[in-house]
Amino acid sequence: MIKIAVFVSGGGTNLQALIDAHEIGFFKAKIGLVFSNMPECGALERAENHRIESVVIPSKGYPGTREDYDQEILRVCQAKNIDLICLAGYMRILTPVMIRPYLYKMMNIHPALLPKFGGEGMYGHFVHEAVIKAKEKESGATVHFVTEGVDAGPIILQGFVKVLTDDTPQVLAERVLKVEHQIYPEAVRLFCDKKIKVVDGRVKILF
Ligand code: GRF
Repeated sequence: MIKIAVFVSGGGTNLQALIDAHEIGFFKAKIGLVFSNMPECGALERAENHRIESVVIPSKGYPGTREDYDQEILRVCQAKNIDLICLAGYMRILTPVMIRPYLYKMMNIHPALLPKFGGEGMYGHFVHEAVIKAKEKESGATVHFVTEGVDAGPIILQGFVKVLTDDTPQVLAERVLKVEHQIYPEAVRLFCDKKIKVVDGRVKILF
């Protein structure tokens, strides 16, 4: 059975979508760990409500380097035999220490249609503000594998929404979030069913 770790820093609605999908048997995997760098985040409460083990290493005030920090997370994941990591609102850029051992075994969800509106500084409301400012007609969400460039890894799935002329970043964010909650469990299901292959840096979905 594939063991998943979900990394979180915030409210955890994507974590919740993955938990709900797991509970109805939508994918053949177990969520074995929730990891957070934020001791007080709402996502941890969701883990507790569903009796999922959580580990917190506060990033604020951490005494070592980013690499030391990632080494600690890696140790935790390896000790727990984690096969797949899902970043779900994890607000810290990972170093190669963590990315390399989990290459093509670590996914992220981003609230825009990558490669547009991604990269450093493009998170949360900044993304939706930029989409509206650019007068885009559509936006959406992207699940992609994590590689060493921020938001740059092979795209697994995308979901689309319309951008309406009177949208505020908040309204658009809510519309996109609904799509996130659909495509993240779907991407995990494809992974668990071994239907994702990466060929020449691009995802191929096997049917
Ligand atoms: C989502 O919009 C996700 O795309 C982004 O961070 C947000 C996390 O929301 N990476 P939540 O904590 O899952 O509710």
